[in-house]
Amino acid sequence: MRNFVLGVIFTLLVLVLAGYALAVLGFIPTNADATPPAFERRIAMTALDASMERHAPRVNNPVPPLDENLIEGMKVYAMNCALCHGTLDNKPSPLEKSFYPAPPQLVLAPLDDPEWHTYYAIRTGVRYTGMPAWNKALSQEEMWKVTAFLSRIQKLPPAVQDYWKKSFGVAPPALGSGKDTGHHHD
Ligand code: HEC
Repeated sequence: MRNFVLGVIFTLLVLVLAGYALAVLGFIPTNADATPPAFERRIAMTALDASMERHAPRVNNPVPPLDENLIEGMKVYAMNCALCHGTLDNKPSPLEKSFYPAPPQLVLAPLDDPEWHTYYAIRTGVRYTGMPAWNKALSQEEMWKVTAFLSRIQKLPPAVQDYWKKSFGVAPPALGSGKDTGHHHD
């Protein structure tokens, strides 16, 4: 029994040292312009979902989805998020393929998550990715407004659609036009 335990400890030690050696000898790739392999994506997505399930408060959006609030949310998005998540002229972000993992294109492939989930992702960010935690840069109101906007991006009221068209030269993407990039999860 004692030898078995020592054997396990020794094996674990060798694995840790081997990992450390690979890292200090420069064998672990650090470039961001690569596509994460499927198994890595699956593990990371499962861990992210499980962590959100555990930590994110189930709250309703305290900001009512009035035209002016949705327009404010659109402005917050255009100022802070479009560079990575896609601009409101319905083009993919120029940085779409420059992050590891890639930022989901929230205009072209809208989220179908509940608002508490989206709000939590915005407020706290996603560690080990390019997604910042916005809680120190935006107010709670601004984060809820951009959440309301993103959750309704394919069914905005007519006045908000008009504002979009006037500001960005194209109509917002219609319901059912989103392509499934596999970035959202249920
Ligand atoms: C510098 C690039 C960058 C900026 C700016 C940025 N994001 Fe992200 N965001 C990312 C990346 C990368 C991910 C993917 C993280 C992952 O794969 O889990 C992401 C993920 C997300 C997600 C999805 C999380 C999930 O549950 O899958 C939401 C929602 C989001 N961002 C909203 C926003 C909003 C709103 C803003 C602006 C206030 C914003 N992001 C600004 C890079 C960015």
